Amino acid sequence: MSGDAFSPVTIGPVRLKNRFIRSGANEMMSKEMKPTRALAQFHTAYARGGVGMTTLAYIAVSKDGRTLPGQGVMNADSLPHYRAVTDSIHAHGAKASAQITHGGSFCQIDDLSTPRAMSASGGIDKMGVFKGRLFQRAMTRADMDRVTGEFAETARLCEQAGFDAIEVHMGHGYLLNQFLSPLSNKRRDDYGGSPENRARFPAEILAAVKAATGGRLAILAKINLFDGAPGGATVDDAIVAAKAFEAAGADMLVLSAGRNIESVWAIFGNSLPYDDLAAMQGGLFAKLQFAILKRSVPKLPPFRENYLMEQALALKAGLGASAMKLAYLGGVQSLAAAGAALEAGFDAVALARALIHDPALIEAWRTGASTASGCTACNRCVAVMYGPAGTHCPVAGNALDPALKDIFAGEGIADAA
Ligand SMILES: Cc1cc2nc3c(=O)[nH]c(=O)nc-3n(C[C@H](O)[C@H](O)[C@H](O)COP(=O)(O)O)c2cc1C
Repeated sequence: MSGDAFSPVTIGPVRLKNRFIRSGANEMMSKEMKPTRALAQFHTAYARGGVGMTTLAYIAVSKDGRTLPGQGVMNADSLPHYRAVTDSIHAHGAKASAQITHGGSFCQIDDLSTPRAMSASGGIDKMGVFKGRLFQRAMTRADMDRVTGEFAETARLCEQAGFDAIEVHMGHGYLLNQFLSPLSNKRRDDYGGSPENRARFPAEILAAVKAATGGRLAILAKINLFDGAPGGATVDDAIVAAKAFEAAGADMLVLSAGRNIESVWAIFGNSLPYDDLAAMQGGLFAKLQFAILKRSVPKLPPFRENYLMEQALALKAGLGASAMKLAYLGGVQSLAAAGAALEAGFDAVALARALIHDPALIEAWRTGASTASGCTACNRCVAVMYGPAGTHCPVAGNALDPALKDIFAGEGIADAA
């Protein structure tokens, strides 16, 4: 079984040395919208630690697409610094994927260029109320064309920055998920209503990204198997969307679930440490936001390994014969759990928390030094992400030196060019 996990896999034009992908998980290691040396070290540790591919999380396709002020944006200024990160990942034997995205109504940054954040539909802005932006606006055709162009241009620049793969983020409630989910898409045009219509704009984005990279990069999409909230998208919706994404050129889908506001437990298979999260926030509104979210969490079953397996298998069955690869994600904490996902027919496994706990986990599994992660899914990595060192495991105590976040990843490289 472990032999399968350590066999190569091909995703579009890219060959990974094994089946392990470090899932995109916000690092909080960018500064002034550019990656820092901390980000390079962070991802180099995953490459050195044995993953086939590591994913840089949330690279915004425009300044307006950021959800946090310093967050990385791919442009001519940041490109040499991203190049330094991908060079370092490659030097340590792994491939590099760029998760590219736009936050839509989650973009509550102070310097947003429009008075209201945009989304699939207008109405109350659930995230914006904490920032004094009560309403969001529905995207017009012109907005959709502009954002499609931004995704395509970002993908083009990612290729120049040395990335092997692009992961278009369509899950967790961000802009493209705001189109996919009936919770946020109330449109009455060709982009709302039926599951086919709700998948149309994300599929157009995917096709534009594919065209911009000309089949030279692997194109992945991270999607929700289900939203996990009443009235949200179901596995049946995800099957329709997955077919549209395959037709649009996706080489692989990474199968996630849940939405950041309504059902964050569906992302993680358990609840977040809301008291820790509130303690990490500076502003009163942010603290209040986490207090409200804590009260909205339903009674949940205990965390279990491979907690999204049932729905992932349903999507796999619904897709039928398909050339598109599927990555299982959600609660892979042991070599046995990874093996079970591969045995069930998934092509790769994606992991976040187990690798945050121990970036060298895959090499330890490969050599037989260990067969399971020490991660307890306490989710404190999510809370400490907002602290000075950025994402790390406080249990393992593996925080990077915060001073590394003051130096751009390619400092010196751009000047020398
Ligand atoms: C600290 C942290 C930050 C995350 N940030 C992102 C993100 O930026 N983009 C994303 O798609 N998923 C993000 N996730 C979700 C993970 O990629 C993954 O979907 C989730 O943790 C379930 O996988 P796991 O059980 O292997 O941890 C984050 C997870 C963690 C723990």
